[in-house]
Amino acid sequence: MSFSQKLDSWYTDFGRSLPWRGIDDPYRIWLSEIILQQTRIEQGRDYYHRFLEAFPTVADLAAASEQQVLRLWQGLGYYSRARNVHAGAQYIMQECRGRFPDTYEGILRLKGVGRYTAAAIASFAFRLPYPVIDGNVYRFISRLHGIATPIGTAAAYNEFEALLLKQMDCRHPDRFNAALMDFGSLQCKPRPDCEACPFADECVALRTGRIELLPVKPAKARPKDRWFYYLHPRWQEAGREYTVMQQRTDQDIWRGLYQFPLLEADRELSDGELQQAMRRFAEENFQFPIPDAQCSPTFLHQLTHRTIHARFVQAQLPSRPTLLPENMRCLTAGQIKDFPLPRLIDRYLRQL
Ligand code: ADE
Repeated sequence: MSFSQKLDSWYTDFGRSLPWRGIDDPYRIWLSEIILQQTRIEQGRDYYHRFLEAFPTVADLAAASEQQVLRLWQGLGYYSRARNVHAGAQYIMQECRGRFPDTYEGILRLKGVGRYTAAAIASFAFRLPYPVIDGNVYRFISRLHGIATPIGTAAAYNEFEALLLKQMDCRHPDRFNAALMDFGSLQCKPRPDCEACPFADECVALRTGRIELLPVKPAKARPKDRWFYYLHPRWQEAGREYTVMQQRTDQDIWRGLYQFPLLEADRELSDGELQQAMRRFAEENFQFPIPDAQCSPTFLHQLTHRTIHARFVQAQLPSRPTLLPENMRCLTAGQIKDFPLPRLIDRYLRQL
C-alpha cells in the first residue's frame, strides 16, 4: 500500500468530524484556519460558531467595526489574527470584488495567511494540491523518514513540502491534508503509541530509537519579562462606580484592546517604589492625589515571547477627573464589559 492509501485508511477509521470539514466555502475554511492558529480545537470550535453567527459572510465581516471583531475574539489571544481577518475581509470586498481568491498565490496575499494556512484553504476549498505542514506534520514526517533538519524554517518547509507533494493523492488533496493533520495530532503524538501505528514497519525513527529525538526543534529564545503596573482609579457618580480605561495603540502586544492606565517599569518595583511611582503617575495623569492606594498581588501572564508581571493599584478618587489624557475615557463597570480586553485585565476584573 502506498503512503497515501495507508494514511487514507487510517483516516477512515480515526479521522475527526469537525464543523469546517466536508465543506468548500473558502470564507468558513479561512476563518477556521485563522482561529486554529495557536488555539485548541475545542476552544476554537465555539469561537468559529460565534464568529459565523455574527458575520455569516465576508461582506458582513468587512462591514463590522474593528472593535466588534476584537470583542468577539476576546479570550482567544493573539489579537493580530482578529485584525488580520478583518483586514482580509475588507481586502476581498474592495480589491477582489467580493470573490475569495481561488489560487494559492492569491490566498497567500491575505494578511496573516502563511504557507500552512494557504495550503489548507487551497486544498479544502479549491482541491488544489498543496500539502499542509504544521508542527504535528513535521513530527510525523520527520520520524517516518528520520529527517533531522531543524523544523520551522523556510528551508525545512521546502524540504517537507517537496517530499509530501510526491506522496500526495492529488485527486483528493483535501482529504489527504485532513488525514495528515489528524494523524500528526492524534497518532504520531509527542509520546506516541507506536504499536498501534500503521507506519510502524517503515518508520525510521522507530527502527533507530529516535522517536523522542525527532523532530529537531530550533533553539528557542527565552521569553522576556515585562512589568506592568496598572492604576485602577474608582469613584462614585450618580450611584454608579466609574473607572478610567485607555486603548492600547502602540506597535505592541494587545493593540486596540482596552486596559487601565498603565505604568510600565523595566524591572520589578518594591511595594514602596510602586506606591511612590503610582502617586506620581496619578498626579500627572489625573491631577489627583491617591493617598490610600491598594496594591494587588502579582498576576503572572504568559504570552509566547513575553512573561507579563502585572499588579493593579486601586485608588479611590473623590470625583471624576477633570482632565484626562486623550487616549483615556471614563467608563462604568457595566460599560467595560462591552470593550475588548486583554485576558489579563479580564482575569483581574473577575477576581475583584
Ligand atoms: N489545525 C489547523 N487547521 C486544522 C484543521 N482544519 N483541522 C484540524 N486541526 C487543525
